[in-house]
Amino acid sequence: MVIVKNGYMIDPLNNLEGKFDILIENGVITKIEESIQPFPRCEIIDATEKIVSPSFVDIHVHFRDPGQTYKEDIYTGSLAAVAGGYTTVVCMPNTTPTLDEASLIRYVIEKGEKVGLCRVLPSAAITKGRKGRELTEMALLKEAGAVYFTDDGLPVMDSFIMRKAMEYAGSIGSFVADHCEDLSLSNNGVAHEGEIAAVLGLPPLPPESEDTMVARDCILSIQTGMPVHICHISSKLSVEIVAWAKAMGAKVTAEVTPHHLYLTDDELTEFSCNAKVSPPLRNYEDIEATRWALSSGIIDCVATDHAPHAHHEKMMDIHLCPPGMVGLQFALPILLELVKKDYLDLKKMVEVMSTNPSKLIGIKPPQIKVGEKAEFTIFDPFESWEVNEETILSKSKNTPLLGRKLIGKVKYTFYNGKVVYRD
Ligand code: DOR
Ligand code: ZN
Repeated sequence: MVIVKNGYMIDPLNNLEGKFDILIENGVITKIEESIQPFPRCEIIDATEKIVSPSFVDIHVHFRDPGQTYKEDIYTGSLAAVAGGYTTVVCMPNTTPTLDEASLIRYVIEKGEKVGLCRVLPSAAITKGRKGRELTEMALLKEAGAVYFTDDGLPVMDSFIMRKAMEYAGSIGSFVADHCEDLSLSNNGVAHEGEIAAVLGLPPLPPESEDTMVARDCILSIQTGMPVHICHISSKLSVEIVAWAKAMGAKVTAEVTPHHLYLTDDELTEFSCNAKVSPPLRNYEDIEATRWALSSGIIDCVATDHAPHAHHEKMMDIHLCPPGMVGLQFALPILLELVKKDYLDLKKMVEVMSTNPSKLIGIKPPQIKVGEKAEFTIFDPFESWEVNEETILSKSKNTPLLGRKLIGKVKYTFYNGKVVYRD
């Protein structure tokens, strides 16, 4: 038996906000009351001045398993997830080999279950080998457990194939998620086109590369009547295009990463590959646009795009190093920063990190409710901690936040009735 005492609980789905004690018996929540008397031999978790929230759901992570487990694997990825307050993650299919066959989908699910720290769900590729030419067997992949389809890391450049993919995925009750980038406009750029790229002499990557693909996908979604999800939206115009598509009644959804909500291209230096990411870090106007879009519901949820890369890869020349940064442990402090700056309230924060992403992928959102298995996160919104090689639990440490202090720390994560993370 466990009693979580004196926490400030917030559960948007049950319209609950306030100070409550929670009793957990055999992993199941059996009481939520203002004060629960401790029993002999029951564990007390003191949550005074902490927030108790349904745990978070990240629909976009790269766990690199199978094939690139020197960067991350399902065990180390799960560790980082629960330390970030997440209990559900959706793994991207840009592994080696690509997740484009049912047996590989089953591998990810089985390994996730064996690790048992959180719910690890796979997405599958839209095209075989992510080559952009031939659609995968979506029905079989869905049956095996793929929660959606994406060639993430790469766009689906061919519009006819994208249209077929949308229709096919939609017809089987699933959806496609697109990494929106017109590679011809990207033209091997590495930094957002603007002053910083010019000063540093880095090949520029114009925002139209993202915007034109977002527009194409929105138009295809309107014309086919099928859903599409926009991965890691990052530019002001892209946000405006999604707002337009939603106003037209399109089944378009969008996610934004914590790094695109928080960091600008000021992070870039000629030598620091840790700030290289796709889409690139943009400017303050873009950040402002994504923040307001998240608070107004134009952007549906936060997803980290947790993208681990090994030290030696990030030591390469900035033109050659792979894009991406780890992110699972920084989403909460970054979102709390937005709460403190009044872009969002706590309830909305929980919605964009837990409720909305759950609904998007069709799973039951975690709830703090009598009769439910304990699946929540206890965090201290004021604790400051340093991002460094020790505090990052991921196998890779690639982030421009290294050495910086963040405020807001996960203290406990409960999953499947048990404590899976304790600070
Ligand atoms: O920065 C990124 N890294 N963006 C992507 O879309 C892919 C990802 C990766 O796989 O490393
Ligand atoms: Zn990604």
